[in-house]
Amino acid sequence: MAVNSRLSGMKDLSISERRARITHSAAVEPESLEVLDPEHGLTLEQADHMVENVIGVLGVPLGVATNFTVNGRDYLIPMATEEPSVVAAASNAARIARIAGGFTTSTTEPLMRAQVQVLDVADPRAARLRLLEARAELIALADAQDPRLLRSGGGVRDVEVHLVPAPGATHVVLHLIVDVRDAMGANAVNTMAEAIAGRVGEIARGRTLLRILSNKADLRLCRARAVFDAGALGGPEVVDDIVHAAALAEADPYRAATHNKGIMNGVTAVVLATGNDTRAVEAGAHSHAVGRYGGYTSLSHFEKDSDGNLVGALELPMAVGLVGGATKVHPVAQAAVALLGVTTARELGEVITAVGLAQNLAAVRALATEGIQRGHMSLHARNVAVTAGATPEELPLVVARLIADRAVRADRAEEVLAELRGEG
Ligand code: MEV
Repeated sequence: MAVNSRLSGMKDLSISERRARITHSAAVEPESLEVLDPEHGLTLEQADHMVENVIGVLGVPLGVATNFTVNGRDYLIPMATEEPSVVAAASNAARIARIAGGFTTSTTEPLMRAQVQVLDVADPRAARLRLLEARAELIALADAQDPRLLRSGGGVRDVEVHLVPAPGATHVVLHLIVDVRDAMGANAVNTMAEAIAGRVGEIARGRTLLRILSNKADLRLCRARAVFDAGALGGPEVVDDIVHAAALAEADPYRAATHNKGIMNGVTAVVLATGNDTRAVEAGAHSHAVGRYGGYTSLSHFEKDSDGNLVGALELPMAVGLVGGATKVHPVAQAAVALLGVTTARELGEVITAVGLAQNLAAVRALATEGIQRGHMSLHARNVAVTAGATPEELPLVVARLIADRAVRADRAEEVLAELRGEG
């Protein structure tokens, strides 16, 4: 069944009504969403097998972003985040992108790097050549560690040797470049790096030390672009101001860090929802934000096209997988992957990158127009009203009063509640 992600009015529905609309619009059975109830999610026993010294599990809200079209296909996007406005903002930007056909994405092959560090090499330049001469032997040794990866079409693709000048010595660092297919890849490449390290040390005639993947996944890139309609954004001045805002992020690391944080609000929420390694993707993103000529800069770019519409582009390293890790064992992550309907790690990475671009556009547009506080206000007011003891019936009235009075504070919520209850 083709998914229809164009769902409006979700915020006004109850949780069970939202689930009903989702199962109506996507190829998932209603029962598959039951694991999203806290009492049916990750069990203590499952958690106990995942990490050490388990004493409980942490609940994080899981929302669904609507309106996304990526490469002509609709997706409903599960996002795990504690931050208000993120899901609504992504959905809103995706609605605008939809006008011009949604997001277009592409990706490189799923290549990860592992590094093997060699110390105390007397002749680093010659050692580099000896290692490159042994390329076939080292690739065969590494490939022998993972027959399953080979059967699925992956395996070592290349060997590089970097000479890294460090204080007092030149480090010889061998890189194994591995096609990890649908895995995140850390386990596969770490096993390979450990397996070849002895032989690498012999050939280089030095002592091997670190044997580990690099989170600078610069050979595993996902790219997303979209055209955002000028009228839907708020007019030509808004387009120009978004371009000015993005220009500051390109030029100023202080702004770039916040701009990129806005991208990661979307990226990390989908990475977490699908049980992937948020820190790996964040490390990759931030290392990619250091431009080729040095200096930390923005990960995305915005420009105006010849029709006056805004064009956004984002490129990110994307070390995510669909096999292994929490993605396979966490019941909510499995439900999230099923809801998303992706079948390859590449497709997952591309959707995540589209979400990052949508999130970024939404944040910069808000900043270039009314600021972000207004959008945050109604959710913040809800939280304040609930904390003050508002019942579900009282909630909309209290929220409306707090916003109208421009006083979203606990003491005011208590006063409003007292008035409503005739206690004033
Ligand atoms: C807040 O979580 C994210 C923003 O600060 C991003 C940005 O400034 O672009 C709104």
